[in-house]
Amino acid sequence: MDRVLPPTPSLSGTLRVPGDKSVTHRALMLAALAEGTSRILHPLKAGDTRSTARVLAALGAEIVEEGPHYRVRGVGLHGLREAADVLDCGNAGTLIRLVSGVLAGQDFFSVLTGDASLRARPMDRVVVPLRQMGARIDGRDGGRRAPLALRGGRLKGIRYSLPVASAQVKSALLLAGLFAEGETEVEEPAPTRDHTERLFRHYGLPLEVEGRRVRTHIAAPYPAKDLVVPGDFSSAAFFIVAALITPESEVTIDGVGLNPTRTGLLQVLTEMGADLEWRVTEGQDGEPVGWVRARSSRLRGVRVDPELIPRMVDEVPVLAAAAAWAEGTTHIPNLAELRVKESDRVQAIAHNLENLGVRVAAGADWLEIQGGGVRPGVVEPMHDHRIAMAFAVCGLPVGVTVKDAEWAEISFPDFWNTLEGLACR
Ligand code: S3P
Repeated sequence: MDRVLPPTPSLSGTLRVPGDKSVTHRALMLAALAEGTSRILHPLKAGDTRSTARVLAALGAEIVEEGPHYRVRGVGLHGLREAADVLDCGNAGTLIRLVSGVLAGQDFFSVLTGDASLRARPMDRVVVPLRQMGARIDGRDGGRRAPLALRGGRLKGIRYSLPVASAQVKSALLLAGLFAEGETEVEEPAPTRDHTERLFRHYGLPLEVEGRRVRTHIAAPYPAKDLVVPGDFSSAAFFIVAALITPESEVTIDGVGLNPTRTGLLQVLTEMGADLEWRVTEGQDGEPVGWVRARSSRLRGVRVDPELIPRMVDEVPVLAAAAAWAEGTTHIPNLAELRVKESDRVQAIAHNLENLGVRVAAGADWLEIQGGGVRPGVVEPMHDHRIAMAFAVCGLPVGVTVKDAEWAEISFPDFWNTLEGLACR
């Protein structure tokens, strides 16, 4: 379905964004493995996390919707059962990789698959270390792509140095480590989102963190516990940038997660001259939560520090939208991982910037964007929720048509109404 957004002269208002996608996936999994009933409050209910709820239900957990919340009756660490059918992970990379870690520890057979995008994404990054731990895993292309067939069982802990900075791989190994003899240690090349570690602490699971090394070991049964999910910073990022690039705008986002492993974008936008304020006001079940306020700003191009990218990996499309409106050139390095997200995001960003009349150069792992504004055009999401939303924002001041706008459903079903609600026309 096409969505036509008329030119928007200004944006104003205060809003909340839906629950954090990364935290919701993990909370559902850890609640499913707990003993007793946990309530997951203000979770994300969208395509990706509904896939997680469905997969866990097929494995025996009871997950019930209670208004905006979820109630999860856990089956305990050893209570999952073999599913009667293939487990469909839809579009969700976090689901397929993290649940592979859980299933590696189960003495039964599982098949994991997903949509065309997910089946094209690399799975060897979890398959290789999980095999080292003792899981038997096969899949297309020698186990590099889904569908994956897993037979889990007795695992042994390993020490593993991640070849790429990936919270999904780190988390898959920590989850498998809960079922493994001995210690499991994961070392990361750069800090990545640490929601799994925070949730392990919340549920009282074994965890030791020493610099970039994280360790766990076999877990004893643990009790269910309620959890409040913060607003998703990655969803807030669209409105932050929308306010910065639209004249006479001011937007405040309340109740948003401000975990420092996620907020690299705030640092880059500040360097670009953004009028931004934010404050952590509370700690909610181990996650820092607060507000962010953004006002229209004259942005200037920057060279982004490559070390910041892992802390803003999902915000690069919306950073590119901001760069299109900045004065001068923005160089964004360290983007190899963006080639294997829900789409090839380096290519999708370049393509959509060109559609909006922006000059852009793309290399294997970098983008260089000539700022100065955009002209009305067509956004092509390329089957990727974040590309749809980032470039809708990019074209907002001049008006834009977004093809296949329903892709936003994957992480933010109410995105279009929320954007509409802020527009002053
Ligand atoms: C996520 C980690 C990141 C991110 C993804 C969510 C997670 O992926 O891009 O949207 O919840 O762990 P990688 O671990 O592949 O970098």
